[in-house]
Amino acid sequence: MRAIVLPMVALLVGMAPPVGAVQVEASAREKLLRLGPMPPVPLDPTNRWSGNDAAADLGQRLFYDANLSRNGSVSCATCHAVQSGFADSRRLARGIGDGTRHTQSLINAAYQRWLTWDGRSDSLWSQALHPFQNDKEMGLTPREVVQRVGETPALRRRYEAVFGRLPAPDDAAGVQTAFVKLGKAIGAFERRIVSGPSPFDRWLDRMRAGDSAPTKEFGADAVRGALLFVGKADCVRCHSGPLLSDGEFHMIGVPEGRGGAPVDRGRLEGIELLQGDPCNAAGAFSDDPTGPRAKVTLATVPDPEAWGRFRTPSLRAASVTPPYMHQGQLDTLAEVVHFYNTLEGASSLDHHSERVLEPLGLSVQEEADLVAFLRVVTGSTPGDVDVARPRPESTEPLPKSSEISPAGTSQPGISGP
Ligand code: HEC
Ligand code: HEC
Repeated sequence: MRAIVLPMVALLVGMAPPVGAVQVEASAREKLLRLGPMPPVPLDPTNRWSGNDAAADLGQRLFYDANLSRNGSVSCATCHAVQSGFADSRRLARGIGDGTRHTQSLINAAYQRWLTWDGRSDSLWSQALHPFQNDKEMGLTPREVVQRVGETPALRRRYEAVFGRLPAPDDAAGVQTAFVKLGKAIGAFERRIVSGPSPFDRWLDRMRAGDSAPTKEFGADAVRGALLFVGKADCVRCHSGPLLSDGEFHMIGVPEGRGGAPVDRGRLEGIELLQGDPCNAAGAFSDDPTGPRAKVTLATVPDPEAWGRFRTPSLRAASVTPPYMHQGQLDTLAEVVHFYNTLEGASSLDHHSERVLEPLGLSVQEEADLVAFLRVVTGSTPGDVDVARPRPESTEPLPKSSEISPAGTSQPGISGP
């Protein structure tokens, strides 16, 4: 059999490809097919409300409510705005004060195991509790947040329909639990912020069916860029899997915005904060404190090598969320690719003075091809009513609490608190 099949394959490969076509070798094909499509968005076992629609609707209202900040002018959506790909298009974040890091897009964050640039949180719900309390972001105490929710009828009724009675402000333990539940509602909402299929995914579908020719929306430059991504440029070493992120932490040496030696400790600080967080997956507020996520968290201990490392961003929304990197140091995708190609200005030595990256030696055309590829991996962005600002109160009937199952339809069998 072999002797007969091989010459036939050789014959096919030898045939002149159609005009504009790019040959995709078997090894590249195999690497590319691992990059899509996106799997269904996972449930978070540490949040029993993660699949609950009523909780997500409450979370959406909390997300857009600027009254939940010290000066009444900052909501989560101030920095994570739907029209900016759930980021803010600024270099450094600005809430009630000035931040020191660039705002991340929330698109597909529900797929990440570690949240934020330094991975200080191991769930969406525990992450959501930080900006409320951060004095540069929203600047309230848990008690103030719970109190303001209690004073806002639309929020209070929704809260009580999902979670039961809101505690009195002087009930310290009750307030802490209620604050956590607000985080869990936001986590349920953020699970809706996912991107749809992209031109890249549709091209992968065609390739699966045996046709890797460029298409109108995925041109020859994008095909060449895809081949560089998994080949000569080896971006896939870190930007792997359907998210185009390994979810792990690396120091790639982007110089810090203010110049000079880097001072942001990155993942090292993230691990310390994670271990000290009473709301981590192994903590008392987790709905799965002995599960797999908790085990990974407990096993994640401070390590000097983590100094200055940041989480590999997903590239699934990169084309709509400039600027780039943890301090927004680079303005365009072309600048990012040029940085990787030349490592100009890089402080690219990690803690042990090892170079993580080497200059790539790409031609001007190859840089442009990689950029063309990055532009078409972005799926349709979620801009619909599901994730945009909620409709005004009067048009919307509230569900009766008896109709709400604690974990939504997707997690039957897990009971409420
Ligand atoms: C002042 C601007 C600002 C506000 C307000 C803000 N964020 Fe953020 N958000 C950021 C920044 C900056 C980061 C990156 C943080 C870091 O790495 O230190 C971030 C990161 C995140 C992440 C991690 C995304 C990922 O891919 O890991 C999530 C989730 C998130 N924010 C949700 C929220 C929620 C929910 C709220 C409201 C309760 C909120 N943010 C309010 C600026 C803001
Ligand atoms: C060693 C792992 C690694 C490799 C290899 C790598 N990246 Fe990255 N990438 C990262 C990390 C980590 C960051 C965030 C760094 C930071 O903020 O300091 C990043 C950031 C980015 C960003 C910015 C995204 C955003 O939202 O801010 C883009 C775009 C990007 N990389 C594209 C590429 C391309 C294209 C290649 C191949 C030429 C590549 N990367 C190779 C790890 C890697």
